[in-house]
Amino acid sequence: MTPLIRKSTLTSQNEGIIEISEWMENCKSIFNFNHPPVMIYNQNEFLLSLLAGLWLLQFLNQKKAFKSSAKIFKKLEDLKSKFSQSNSLWTFLDELFNNLNEKLILDSLLLIKFPDLHEALSNDVLGTMLQNSLSSDERKKLAANYTTVSSARILVELLKSNTPSSIIDPFCGSGRLVSAYLRILTPNTRFPRIRINDLMASAVLIAYCRIILILSEKNQDYGLLQASIGDTFAVFASDVNSQPKELENYDLILMNPPFTRTHRINSDQRKSLLKLERKYKKYLSGQVGLHIYAILLTDMLIKENGVLGTVLPAATILSQYSGGIQKLLLNNYQLEIIAASEDVKSCSEGSSFREIFLIAKRKRTKKEEDVKFIRISEPYKSNQWNISPALRIPEEILINEWNWTIFLKDPKLLRIRDIFLQSGLLKNGSDLNLDITRGVEMYGPNFFFIPNQNWRIISEEKEKIILRSKDRTLTIPKEFLVRSLRKAGKYNRCISPGVSDFALSIPDSCKEFPKWLEDYISTSKHFASPAKRKFGSEWISHIHNQIKTKKPWGQMFFIDKFGISTTSVMGHFFESKLICSKNFYVLRNSSPDQAKLLAAWLNSTFFIILYLLSRREIGGSYGRLQIIDYMKEPLFLDASKILTSQRNQIFEEFDTMRKLNLPPIPEQLQLPQRKALDLAIIQSIYLSEKVEKKLLSEIYVLLDKTFGTLKQRDKTLRSN
Ligand SMILES: C[S@@+](CC[C@H](N)C(=O)[O-])C[C@H]1O[C@@H](n2cnc3c(N)ncnc32)[C@H](O)[C@@H]1O
Repeated sequence: MTPLIRKSTLTSQNEGIIEISEWMENCKSIFNFNHPPVMIYNQNEFLLSLLAGLWLLQFLNQKKAFKSSAKIFKKLEDLKSKFSQSNSLWTFLDELFNNLNEKLILDSLLLIKFPDLHEALSNDVLGTMLQNSLSSDERKKLAANYTTVSSARILVELLKSNTPSSIIDPFCGSGRLVSAYLRILTPNTRFPRIRINDLMASAVLIAYCRIILILSEKNQDYGLLQASIGDTFAVFASDVNSQPKELENYDLILMNPPFTRTHRINSDQRKSLLKLERKYKKYLSGQVGLHIYAILLTDMLIKENGVLGTVLPAATILSQYSGGIQKLLLNNYQLEIIAASEDVKSCSEGSSFREIFLIAKRKRTKKEEDVKFIRISEPYKSNQWNISPALRIPEEILINEWNWTIFLKDPKLLRIRDIFLQSGLLKNGSDLNLDITRGVEMYGPNFFFIPNQNWRIISEEKEKIILRSKDRTLTIPKEFLVRSLRKAGKYNRCISPGVSDFALSIPDSCKEFPKWLEDYISTSKHFASPAKRKFGSEWISHIHNQIKTKKPWGQMFFIDKFGISTTSVMGHFFESKLICSKNFYVLRNSSPDQAKLLAAWLNSTFFIILYLLSRREIGGSYGRLQIIDYMKEPLFLDASKILTSQRNQIFEEFDTMRKLNLPPIPEQLQLPQRKALDLAIIQSIYLSEKVEKKLLSEIYVLLDKTFGTLKQRDKTLRSN
């Protein structure tokens, strides 16, 4: 057989010294990649594994280089028996080297020296290359978003006082968490037994190399490290009635588990979750991500008094489905620290989730200490992070609070919320029986909303509107149109803007299209494709059908997503009812007075404080509240408790504000009309006059500062 490569191809001019990226580029064109090893996703991953594998074998061969491939296979056999606990790792390496269908290739690889490989392993350049080698779909499925090196350091910093005898990272990736932990141990510490596992073989291999390197630097026995490859839930989970498969438990669990939704995983993987579902049934509800199952698994693997240090999506302590897991954490653990970065949304490479750090001690008995909520700032710029003094919250408070993320917000904002809560006038949407729904979903807004890219309205009459496109005019009877808010940016300077957008509402009964509709379709049909794909023959009526079933009519509207630094209004109010697109939520079935009072409240400065505490950040100042937040958070003023005279005063000030074309909210803090509205509202809340005045000025100063910080964060986000 002709060798696939010539020896000289891979030996560089410079006495065999070659850069990793150069080596990979050379190899790509040479390796036959028709039948990759089963556990390999793609060619780049194959090359990275080969590189790490070669390094590992040479390193474990007392760092002496191999001269021929035969010795490699012999060495693999030795290692398999020496480190028999990590059998799957050596089997993987065996398969990898066997895949080089020409031994000569392997021999030629042995001649190469990689001067920067040690450094690439310790900085985890290989881990980053590995994640980037995956297609976006593969990466999403695996949640291959490794903890950034600085976030891993923060997590172990928060754990500092811990001295475990055994640690595990059940979703180890390239081993960043365990490496960060081992790095802070001094050589004279008693090193723990270390267990790692991941579904991705090459990740385990890289993690193994990295940890071996650290153990070597610290003069420790490599036998401390045990690695395996496979689905963690299958490897570790035990059935409800049987002993854990893996009998040994751990006293430190470090993890950044996959957040993958269960519909993305295959049926075998789903089967392994059933065991956990049976055992922890009472803590599960709705469609949760794998991170929830990872916490359940932890509960089985952790020793009493053992510690869990984990990165989790912030939704774990906030979402509709997380009540069960919050209860499990409160029942079985002493929650020690919940922390989050103030500057960076995510702790994981390439992830857009808002993430938190959680440190909890397994403890079924009485808990004595408060939970520390910590905000961390500027970790990325300087590698020197500031850890804020902890806000201490007793567990009894957490039992009754569904959204724990508010304790990670500015305590000054929290204090102001507390003052309002004490008045007893703040209620959540459920208490007030608010009926909030999302507007209509538009499959093709440039077809189903008018005006649009093709058509502008040139006149509106009582019974019809007249449209003009580039080359024609069209008249649409108003019986097929519903006045509707379309997108936030169109109205965001005014609380009660004139709305001249219409949704096209064609009933099913309209079997034969009138002439105007035929004409409209012929000029705009390409904008209708999303509706045709989604609804087939019913496509033309999808807006009409939603209006019929959802009934999204109302006078007050919440904006779904917006930038708090750039918007001018927090909600809209209209004298008569209209509908909205899915970019808004509408308050249905409320009295005009209730709608107006809530709209006034939404546009007051107090609501901004509550919004900032409860919002879900999308990025910097851009964020949102969802219906669940409106229903569960005490965000509203109880209109029924406000005296008529005071309500009239609020309406008067609100009407003045409604007439204005408003600047962005941060520039409104000095606006006399806003101050007048705030004063009218605060006077209706029964605080003493002294407290009112002091509180108001405190709020303006605080918000001014908060907006400054948010603007700075937006700037950083834009520059990244
Ligand atoms: C968010 S990453 C974290 C990796 C690593 N712990 C770190 O902190 O850098 C999640 C890891 O889970 C792994 N993974 C996903 N599903 C898995 C499963 N069912 N069993 C084992 N590992 C899995 C992925 O390959 C990925 O390495």
